[in-house]
Amino acid sequence: MIVTDQDYQLFIYALKNSSKYDFSQYSEKSLKRRILKVLTDHQLTITSLVSRIKNDPEFVETIVKEITVNTTELFRDPQVWQTLRFNVLPRFKNNNVINIWHAGCSTGQEVYSMLILLNEQNLLERTKIYATDINTDVMDIAKQGEYRYRFNLSYLDNFDKVIKENPYNYDEYNDVPYDKYFALDKASDAIRMHSVLRGKPVFKKHDLVTDINTLYVKFDLILCRNVIIYFNYELQCRVLDLFHQNLYESGCLMLGLHETILGTHASKFQKKGHAYFKN
Ligand SMILES: C[S@@+](CC[C@H](N)C(=O)[O-])C[C@H]1O[C@@H](n2cnc3c(N)ncnc32)[C@H](O)[C@@H]1O
Repeated sequence: MIVTDQDYQLFIYALKNSSKYDFSQYSEKSLKRRILKVLTDHQLTITSLVSRIKNDPEFVETIVKEITVNTTELFRDPQVWQTLRFNVLPRFKNNNVINIWHAGCSTGQEVYSMLILLNEQNLLERTKIYATDINTDVMDIAKQGEYRYRFNLSYLDNFDKVIKENPYNYDEYNDVPYDKYFALDKASDAIRMHSVLRGKPVFKKHDLVTDINTLYVKFDLILCRNVIIYFNYELQCRVLDLFHQNLYESGCLMLGLHETILGTHASKFQKKGHAYFKN
């Protein structure tokens, strides 16, 4: 089975016309793959899928959750977290309050990584963390802060690279125990974040396509990693404008390792390593 250009348009317009969701500016290639998965998983034809979208609002919510890609991990791309540790967070050490927004937080591993790093830098108490996503199911997992253990052994390697080791001085080693932040329950195959971390972030549903800044604060740091890669160039520019407007002067935007700011928006930020500082 393939998703033709016509199927794709039918899907996009059915969603747009019968719900608040607009996927018309997502990257076509990856969205077509997700539509194909939905058709296969639900054993539907494009005609029956479109008909259900038009007539069943609950089904629309299910479909939106199924077409988003939610892959994430603790301290994903450790080199980016080293940039945060050595080059970004120290800039905020004299702030009374630090506002951080995780846009597209998925199941929360990025948020817990930030909480751990902030605590190691003695910045956690002064920080307000906002975490948003279009998909409320993944945010429910984020709030619970519980992940599979055996499936995610890389989390511990990443923790070591970012929290224990210093890539600029290999003689320095901070022997921070994992159980300072999470319990490793091998018997029930779980990594459970401590409640002191779980209680800290404000989680809120937010759609980067249609919503303005509904958090009503400005930010020192925005992380939107591995999200705009699914958007076309025009939508990327619109979302970058939203972030630019809602960052404080010299505030910082962190994108995914393989995401860059191109075109006219490049001049609005100064790139330093993996970090983009507002001009
Ligand atoms: C691949 S995950 C990235 C998770 C995390 N930021 C990371 O880099 O590990 C992408 C997330 O973006 C969310 N997303 C996709 N479209 C969105 C939109 N329009 N508004 C808000 N979040 C969106 C998805 O639901 C998904 O959880």
